[in-house]
Amino acid sequence: MTMNKIKWALGIIVMGFVLNSQVTLAEHFNGHVDVKVGALSAAAEKGQITFNRTCAACHGNNGEGSLKGPPLIHSIYNPGHHSNQSFYSAVRNGVQQHHWPYGDMPAQKEIAFSEMAAIIQFVREVQQQNGIVLQEHKM
Ligand code: HEC
Repeated sequence: MTMNKIKWALGIIVMGFVLNSQVTLAEHFNGHVDVKVGALSAAAEKGQITFNRTCAACHGNNGEGSLKGPPLIHSIYNPGHHSNQSFYSAVRNGVQQHHWPYGDMPAQKEIAFSEMAAIIQFVREVQQQNGIVLQEHKM
């Protein structure tokens, strides 16, 4: 290869990276991540029904995110950064906007305390199936 051809080849590789990262950004702004759901425990299956009835309006089907709320199947919601306690608190008290550009989350009054364990079980199982595991919280 001549020097010129090498430069062209390198240019095309760099362009590929730039385009690829723009696609990732665009996906992020669409509020979607790809979520796969495998076999679930009985509790998680129950939680999935409640989740997709109530939370999916903003957090997307199976927590994949939507234009109204963030994906919960996302590394920032790993159990080390957002404990189960933060799920109880989010549903009981709502959440002030702090991580994302979607505004505040209103308290979800129609969700009973007794339904929460199954919802959390569902989110945690799907997180694991998508490679989201506990990371120590450093801040
Ligand atoms: C009306 C829209 C909406 C609905 C419905 C909704 N959420 Fe949210 N939720 C949000 C938004 C927006 C955020 C992100 C706030 C931020 O960090 O900027 C959020 C954040 C969260 C968080 C992170 C809390 C934290 O400490 O950062 C959890 C957990 C959560 N939601 C769980 C749920 C569950 C479970 C349900 C269903 C019972 C639900 N949400 C229903 C909009 C919603």
